[in-house]
Amino acid sequence: MRILVLGGAGYIGSHTVYELVDAGYEVIVIDNLLTGFKEAVHPQAKFYEGDIRDKIFLDNILSKEKIDGVIHFAASSQVGESMKNPLKYYNNNLCGTEVLLESMVEHGIDKIVFSSTAATYGEPESIPILETARTLPTNCYGETKLSMEKMFKWISKAHNLRYVSLRYFNACGAHPNGKIGEAHNPETHLIPLVLQVPNGKREYISVFGNDYDTKDGTCVRDYIHVNDLAQAHILAMEYLSKGGESNIFNLGNGVGFTVKEVIETARKVTNHTIPIREEERRAGDPSVLIASSEKARKVLGWKPQYADLETIISTAWKWHVNHPDGY
Ligand code: UFG
Repeated sequence: MRILVLGGAGYIGSHTVYELVDAGYEVIVIDNLLTGFKEAVHPQAKFYEGDIRDKIFLDNILSKEKIDGVIHFAASSQVGESMKNPLKYYNNNLCGTEVLLESMVEHGIDKIVFSSTAATYGEPESIPILETARTLPTNCYGETKLSMEKMFKWISKAHNLRYVSLRYFNACGAHPNGKIGEAHNPETHLIPLVLQVPNGKREYISVFGNDYDTKDGTCVRDYIHVNDLAQAHILAMEYLSKGGESNIFNLGNGVGFTVKEVIETARKVTNHTIPIREEERRAGDPSVLIASSEKARKVLGWKPQYADLETIISTAWKWHVNHPDGY
């Protein structure tokens, strides 16, 4: 089976490409390398540098390569940036997906798995969060992802196309092979920032808010290993290949950790004191986000392999200590 991976040089995309190649799929990658890295692309994948908003470029590849299904990661994904520059998010995430869908419909490609996010929910009404929960994003990034889901819903009704939307909770960790990992510029995510302290790149970690209604006053998140996310994409593509209907799944471990628990675990893994500095709350942060992934477990047969935070952070540490400046 030939799978086209859009954004296959990015963090979650590159890990999915490694898992696809290992599972015996033929993989074609498109990435504009604005936030991705060529070095992250598996050497056995065929790589095209370009932008999915470029219809001629995309049509050309879809005509040339016989694609059975698409996995779509190509999007901007920084919450803070999306509030300052929403037009960039509408353009990249929505216009990009619209061009992609036009080209897929024209070329008769009928299966797509794509990245969505817990940010589609906003502040949850109850925990754990089910796929049926209210969706009320509190930032523009989440809003564009929710709009993408709606775009797929209507296009799939009109055309012969089925989709799976995967709503990730907090992606983290790195491939245990040590070759690929998380590399964002600028970095905004908690675990890579925490690990910059023992790596000598930062003196302390800021803790945003200590007065949330949680056990230690800091925000709770559901941290899910990137290889487990990658596996879910393969299972979702297999599900569509077997005739599964369009669907939406949460992906998380179903366990929440506070910011302070993450820092404490990183101290244990790295054997470093990791000083903290308590700061104001970060705007738009929900206090608790924990997934119910029962649906993905039941329907896709998904079983996350990295359930404990210490193992997850150990894989991230192995990557960052060997690649302190990323790729
Ligand atoms: N945090 C700190 N200090 C830091 C960085 C983060 O205390 O230096 C805190 C945040 O306030 C938050 C938690 O650590 O409470 C996790 O923050 P991240 O930035 O790592 O992740 P988010 O939960 O904000 O965002 C993640 C994904 C987004 C997605 C969102 C869904 O990265 O893409 O979940 O809510 F939109």
